[in-house]
Amino acid sequence: MAQNGKKKIGLIGGGQIGGNLALLAVQKSLGDVVLYDIPAAEGLVKGKALDINQLAAVDGYDCRVKGTTDWKDVAGSDVIIITAGMPRKPGMSREDLLEINLKIMTDVAGNIKQHAPNAFVINVANPLDAMVFALHKIAGLPKHMVAGMAGVLDTSRFKCFVAEALGSSIRDVEALVLGGHGDDMVPLVRHSTVGGVPLTELIAKDKLDAIIKRTREGGAELVGLYKTGSAYFGPAASAIAMAESFLQDRKRVLPAAALLEGQYGINGYFFGVPVQIGAGGVEKIHTVELNDSEKAELEKSFQSVKKTVDSVKL
Ligand code: NAD
Ligand code: LAC
Repeated sequence: MAQNGKKKIGLIGGGQIGGNLALLAVQKSLGDVVLYDIPAAEGLVKGKALDINQLAAVDGYDCRVKGTTDWKDVAGSDVIIITAGMPRKPGMSREDLLEINLKIMTDVAGNIKQHAPNAFVINVANPLDAMVFALHKIAGLPKHMVAGMAGVLDTSRFKCFVAEALGSSIRDVEALVLGGHGDDMVPLVRHSTVGGVPLTELIAKDKLDAIIKRTREGGAELVGLYKTGSAYFGPAASAIAMAESFLQDRKRVLPAAALLEGQYGINGYFFGVPVQIGAGGVEKIHTVELNDSEKAELEKSFQSVKKTVDSVKL
């Protein structure tokens, strides 16, 4: 909680996603923001904070951003969103980031343990499922106070492509992408609808298969276009949706990487499933009835996640 009674949002990493997180948090009046980065990026975070605080005057936002390189400023955060980590470049997989980003996560998680042990912590850094696993282990946070952001973004990409294919409002596309944040993620076509109409009655299988492929490769498509990094607008909005549900106890049911302890036949790994997020953090983990083909796809995604997570040496 910020000293003025407002909620306090700690953003660890002030880069492409971090800056957009700070802007969205202020525009949604979620609370005061602390934008933390390493000393080499002091100008970046202090500049973004000053820039957003000046923007606030335009539309009258009363939340403030503080840019800092001092972990003490993060203390008391109600929610923390971690984007500290290198993004991939063209030709890289998310798993290629494991070694360097594990070192960064070790630093970040250790500081969260020391300075903000009671926060609800959302990880964004890649490889997502392994980094949130490491975060939970190192920071020693309760399992319901840790989640990974990927499914909201992956599902938003799927919805975007469906709406484009149909020429319909994106608001009426309901969909769900389960599994790891990787090329084996599982868009559940059978559970997706547009205005309540099953997707399979609206789009031919070959076009649906193309949408699934583009969703799975959605991150790489943007890395190929940007050349110097990866997506940031969609990831920021997705993480803010999760943070907002916690801060305002909205109890939204969103796809997110949560610690499974037997659900879906998985035990001891973070994996993308539908979860209810409210003031209690990850309040519920929902299981979805899957047919044999969907179960096989989810198992393939889990094996990819397991291979990466099992290589994490803490
Ligand atoms: P970026 O390079 O713009 O920002 C990363 C920031 O982390 C930099 O400012 C850097 O100084 C900072 N940093 C490095 N070490 C740090 C430390 N020890 N403590 C605090 N900050 C530190 O990258 P970005 O585009 O914002 O992406 C951030 C991460 O998010 C990447 O790992 C990327 O792969 C990942 N990502 C995940 C998703 C998802 O769906 N989960 C989507 C897009 C990107
Ligand atoms: C994405 C990758 C980089 O944008 O995680 O999905």
